[in-house]
Amino acid sequence: MIAGLLLSAFALGGLCGTAAAEDFEPADFNVTSELLKLGVDVSKLPGLSGLGGRDVSAPCTAACKSLSALYGDNAVYAQNTTGYGAFTSAYWSSIQSEVDPLCIFKPAKVADVSVLVLLSRLTQCPFAFKSGGHAAFAGASSVEGGITVSFENFKDVTVSRDRKTVKIQPGNNWVDVYKVLDPQDLTVTGGRVARVGTGGLTLGGGISYFSNIYGWACDNVVSYEVVTASGRVVHATPTAFPKLYWALRGGGNNFGIVTSFTFETIPLPKGQMWGGTRTYLESNFEGVVDAFAGVIANSPSDPNAGIWVAWILKYGLKLAATELYYAKPDGAANATIFNDFKAMTPIADTTKSRNVSEYSEAQQSTNPYGLREVYWCMTVKADARIARVARDIYYQERPAVANIEGAGPVLIFQGITVGQMQKMSRNGGNALGLDHRDGPLYLIQIACWWKNAADDEAIYAFARKVMDRIAAEATALGVQSDYIYMNYGSRFQNVIAGYGADNVNKLRDIARQYDPKAVFQTLQPGHFKLDRAPVSS
Ligand SMILES: Cc1cc2nc3c(=O)[nH]c(=O)nc-3n(C[C@H](O)[C@H](O)[C@H](O)COP(=O)(O)OP(=O)(O)OC[C@H]3O[C@@H](n4cnc5c(N)ncnc54)[C@H](O)[C@@H]3O)c2cc1C
Ligand SMILES: *[C@@H]1O[C@H](CO)[C@@H](O)[C@H](O)[C@H]1NC(C)=O
Ligand SMILES: *[C@@H]1O[C@H](CO)[C@@H](O)[C@H](O)[C@H]1NC(C)=O
Ligand SMILES: *[C@@H]1O[C@H](CO)[C@@H](O)[C@H](O)[C@H]1NC(C)=O
Ligand SMILES: *[C@@H]1O[C@H](CO)[C@@H](O)[C@H](O)[C@H]1NC(C)=O
Repeated sequence: MIAGLLLSAFALGGLCGTAAAEDFEPADFNVTSELLKLGVDVSKLPGLSGLGGRDVSAPCTAACKSLSALYGDNAVYAQNTTGYGAFTSAYWSSIQSEVDPLCIFKPAKVADVSVLVLLSRLTQCPFAFKSGGHAAFAGASSVEGGITVSFENFKDVTVSRDRKTVKIQPGNNWVDVYKVLDPQDLTVTGGRVARVGTGGLTLGGGISYFSNIYGWACDNVVSYEVVTASGRVVHATPTAFPKLYWALRGGGNNFGIVTSFTFETIPLPKGQMWGGTRTYLESNFEGVVDAFAGVIANSPSDPNAGIWVAWILKYGLKLAATELYYAKPDGAANATIFNDFKAMTPIADTTKSRNVSEYSEAQQSTNPYGLREVYWCMTVKADARIARVARDIYYQERPAVANIEGAGPVLIFQGITVGQMQKMSRNGGNALGLDHRDGPLYLIQIACWWKNAADDEAIYAFARKVMDRIAAEATALGVQSDYIYMNYGSRFQNVIAGYGADNVNKLRDIARQYDPKAVFQTLQPGHFKLDRAPVSS
């Protein structure tokens, strides 16, 4: 007993200088008595009584039964029920739908999330939370044999009285938010595609139509309501729990369960902006690269303008599908920054003025549900030479997947502009490790869908080869960059390591302070952890 206490004290003391100051979770933290404070008497729960929180033989059976006993059968879906099937099939990627948790829990309020975390600690049953369910790989927002938690009862979207902020709960996807904000002449730095979740996108960073002006999603959150590993609910802001606030800006699911995000709002009359896809033939490929490079380099001159370029093969034709968007209506007339694109004749053009809700729905229609999916990404310093090389490598390697059923590989370029990077230092900075003096960067991403599990390895090998070849060329050109964007990362990538050694150490210190028993590293095993990729490769 004494030895145990000494060990804990030693472990705590070794963390970081400030751990003791805040003493967030004492070494003698008692999960059972914390549950009691929340009105949960463990001795009365099926499968838990008399176990004292240790050695529960079937941890998840006990945990799921306890949740049913506490909250009723309507709050818990068991395997092979209709509700269970509807929930698991609602992930964007069918790879995530194939994961079978033992049960699905639907908390109704924040305290229920605290109880879930504590029950998981007591029983050692693993858990995962699902917001919009757009992460592509198995176990990112579900957990085999454990408890997957649905945020479907966390649907609040409330604009503050002074209209300067909006509180968004993670049961909303972005179009839910835009439907509320468009008619109020407001928007936020949210996702660009309708049914992407507010939770995952914001915790990984979050690139918006408005990011060149206002920064990434995480840089526009002024307060996180978060359930920590001890079940305690805190509001992390630039002044309250500032380290936790910093870590939540890009640190993913490693620091707590966020039950609401308070975003700064952006004025946008009727939610009207401009954007769409201009598609160019191969004869314009050189021009497309130069025009893309120009928009990223010149972004500070008109940060309303944003872009991505998708290199595709369709009907046997190599095509560049360029997404051009503008943070105001009438981009066709007013966005002179796109003049180099306008000088080339597209074979198709869907650009127009429209509200953010409608635009995000149009994006969803080109990203259908129910297929196997992989995202894989890297960054490089902005340089048209590497953009050309990357494009060419993708088309050289593409035949490797030509005969795979349903395979639709795309190479996508975006810019992490100087404007975006400058906003990352707002409110004490974020965890991503990006410095505007190194910018701008290109974000290069492979996205691919396909049909059959038998082809998984071939698809991963293709994506890896394209990325490895581009990385080698980037190094040769001296434009390599370590940063990996979490929200486009593959399960083979150690995303957090790319934030830089200083930030990795800082994140680990903060995790030890707020989660000394590493609950979010071990009991919530999915997605990008502080010390590893989701799977070893
Ligand atoms: C079609 C498509 C379009 C996209 N467009 C964009 C875009 O425009 N900009 C951009 O930046 N990214 C974009 N992404 C990437 C997107 O940000 C990631 O896929 C992100 O993980 C999706 O979030 P989600 O809530 O839907 O995912 P989920 O799979 O539900 O969650 C992802 C991870 O976050 C965790 N998590 C979610 N909510 C919480 C919470 N409240 N507290 C703690 N942990 C939580 C989950 O447990 C999981 O580990 C897009 C992805 C797709 C597939
Ligand atoms: C934890 O708290 C419970 C309930 O208050 C109590 O019965 C138990 O003895 C405590 N455990 C320890 C190790 O102190
Ligand atoms: C659900 O169905 C699967 C497949 O039929 C079966 O293996 C599993 O045991 C079932 N689970 C429950 C809880 O009935
Ligand atoms: C967005 O625009 C469409 C088309 O004009 C309109 O039908 C819809 O009501 C608008 N949505 C919102 C939320 O304002
Ligand atoms: C677009 O430009 C025209 C004139 O060039 C101007 O009158 C109009 O207000 C501009 N529109 C926007 C949305 O800025």
